Amino acid sequence: MVKPSVLVTRRWPAAVEARLAENYNTVLNRGDKPMSPAEIRDALRSYDAVLPTVTDTLNSEALDVPAAKTKILANYGVGYSHICESAARNLGMTVTNTPDVLSECTADLAMTLLLMVARRTGEGERELRAGGWTGWRPTHLIGTKVSGKTLGIVGFGRIGQEMARRAHHGFGMKIIVQNRSRVVPEVLAKCNAIQVDSIEELLPQCDFVSLHCPGGAANRHLINALRLDLMKPDAFLINTARGEVIDEFALTQALMFDIIGGAALDVFDGEPRISQTLMQCDNLVMLPHLGSATREAREAMGFRVLENLDDFFDGKPPRDKVI
Ligand code: DGY
Repeated sequence: MVKPSVLVTRRWPAAVEARLAENYNTVLNRGDKPMSPAEIRDALRSYDAVLPTVTDTLNSEALDVPAAKTKILANYGVGYSHICESAARNLGMTVTNTPDVLSECTADLAMTLLLMVARRTGEGERELRAGGWTGWRPTHLIGTKVSGKTLGIVGFGRIGQEMARRAHHGFGMKIIVQNRSRVVPEVLAKCNAIQVDSIEELLPQCDFVSLHCPGGAANRHLINALRLDLMKPDAFLINTARGEVIDEFALTQALMFDIIGGAALDVFDGEPRISQTLMQCDNLVMLPHLGSATREAREAMGFRVLENLDDFFDGKPPRDKVI
């Protein structure tokens, strides 16, 4: 039997690439150069499956391929707001993602960011490496205590729940949750969490707010100037979700004019381009989209894509079918 043809848009962990090459007629992107929308359109005309990732553009223009051969977009990543849902549906394409396997590592990174911004570790490291440290003193780089504080979580899916678990059981934090649907009481009870009805209700009560909702048009600028104004003046905002969820101009103003205490971001609107004004904010920690960047998570994400592909080509509904 002829093996289905598969195109991988970026470099993947070696173990997963090897398995893909065994099972499929696979074309890898050995140079790891991002593909242009035109190259992606060509791929959709030529391969049975395209394996994109969260940085590929699969908007309506890129998916404007009436004679597409591709029947499955098996995405490497949990977020799929970079794939135009209606265009994929019109082409009759199946779309899958990779949930679960990155939840713990992404929550670990959200907690890292929370601690970094509260304890001013980015500022400390910058000072030390620049040769500016003059020694211990009682008033040097004073941060904010984390243990026992209140954490607001926007979006209580798998990653939000893992974040709550770490914060509550590790740091004794009180957890308040805002989620678009009702969270079942047993799930809230695991962290003694309280669910509120709106972001407006959540923000004024929290010392830390961590975003774990999906990106895309529906949540674009969910955190805007009005909502930043509702936060406590010494509260911190953490984002490991998607860059577009925060209005970055409003955030810059809030950081510069001490409307909030600080922020920590792993994702950016239009990344990898970073706004120059964000760069100037000292009360801001920034990481280059590292949420799932562990060997374990990245391999597991790849093997999860393989499972989805195997199911699809065996004629079964893939476990992580989102479209
Ligand atoms: C995702 O999977 O959506 C992340 O942003 C990358 O791990």
